[in-house]
Amino acid sequence: MADLKGRFGRPLRLGIIGGGPDSWIGGMHRGAAEMDGWWRATAGVFSSDAARSRAAGPRLGIDAARSYGDVTEMLSAEKARPDGIDAVAIMTPNDTHYPFAVAALEAGLDVIADKPVTHDFREACDLVARTRKHGRLFAIAHGFSSYPMTRYARALVRDGTLGRIRLVQVEYIQSGLATRIEDGPQNNRLRWLLDGQRSGLALVMSTIGCHAQHLACHVSGLNAARVAADVCALLPGRTVVDYVSALIEFEGGARGTFTATQAAAGGENDICLRVYGEKGMLDWSHRESGYLRLAIQGEAVRIIGRGDTFLPADIVAAGRTPRGHPEGLREAFANIYADVAQERMARALGDTPQHLAYPRIEEGAHTMAFIEACVASQSKGTWVEVAKLPLAL
Ligand SMILES: NC(=O)c1ccc[n+]([C@@H]2O[C@H](COP(=O)([O-])OP(=O)(O)OC[C@H]3O[C@@H](n4cnc5c(N)ncnc54)[C@H](O)[C@@H]3O)[C@@H](O)[C@H]2O)c1
Repeated sequence: MADLKGRFGRPLRLGIIGGGPDSWIGGMHRGAAEMDGWWRATAGVFSSDAARSRAAGPRLGIDAARSYGDVTEMLSAEKARPDGIDAVAIMTPNDTHYPFAVAALEAGLDVIADKPVTHDFREACDLVARTRKHGRLFAIAHGFSSYPMTRYARALVRDGTLGRIRLVQVEYIQSGLATRIEDGPQNNRLRWLLDGQRSGLALVMSTIGCHAQHLACHVSGLNAARVAADVCALLPGRTVVDYVSALIEFEGGARGTFTATQAAAGGENDICLRVYGEKGMLDWSHRESGYLRLAIQGEAVRIIGRGDTFLPADIVAAGRTPRGHPEGLREAFANIYADVAQERMARALGDTPQHLAYPRIEEGAHTMAFIEACVASQSKGTWVEVAKLPLAL
């Protein structure tokens, strides 16, 4: 992987879909993509309104000639250019992720998509099939599993430091739905978010629950096999789901607990994970995202910090400043962009592929199966199996 950027000779060119000047996640994606020089945000479509989209590009530093009116126009115009885009990043309202991802894959482009990757498991399986058929890369913007310390947690599980995993506990608590925002003034964002046809099968799973499930599965290396879930609204009279709690049985028999809610008044952005194995446990909280607590039975507890020099080289490289200097979600997003770029450039240069930890479309499909199983468990009142990817894909 040495000097990939130099040998490839140029930054990859990214086409942005969504993330107009009014969207905070748009700035996160663009800043993360460009942070380490792997990518340049080169073209884009920033609104469902063609005129607004064209006007938005230059405000974000995108060449007016490459600020398009819609996705079809961008894909065909960029294909015709000798310096066309290499990939798209999708950060539009949730119901558009699937059709835009299909269009990009069919145009031969790699995809970085925001979550939830699709409306349901069937669509996600279709994206897995198309990604494999076209030999493309498909990443999902799960920032929390891309922090150096959550990546190190995953590495500790993979190398057996905790022994066989017995219990995984994850929670993600926020207050964005702690008041009846559905009764107040609606902006564009709230209009699509509060419409289940557009935002997904269970609101809190689309907004934050998917991140918690992904973090638990990605770090533990375990997929959920069965769930028994409580899917409801904590606020009286509310028709959207603001709370999901679930018991999980993972493949291989480990157990888990999961809670996601945005109806917790006073909650901030509190995502945390504990993984317990037969030898010990690890504990990560977003409040102290640069640290990981590792407790091996019978040994002194260790607080490991991002930037500690004894960490493996890939974990050190996932941070950008010395220990004690805060980093955050933007850097975590940048790790996803860096991984996709490295895999893309390595392939182009014929280098031996190396396993990179970024969240992939197969994991996005598991998230959709998990959400469907939680919803089905609530309506049936029983444990429900989580669908597996068909072997034929
Ligand atoms: N990964 C994360 O941590 C994270 C955080 C926040 C939001 N998100 C995801 O980002 C996506 C957008 O969320 P948001 O809160 O920014 O929403 P938003 O409504 O604030 O912004 C959506 C943006 O997409 C643009 N847009 C809408 N339709 C479009 C179309 N057809 N073509 C091109 N652009 C279009 C809008 O103009 C706007 O700029 C959602 O999928 C959400 O789940 C992810």
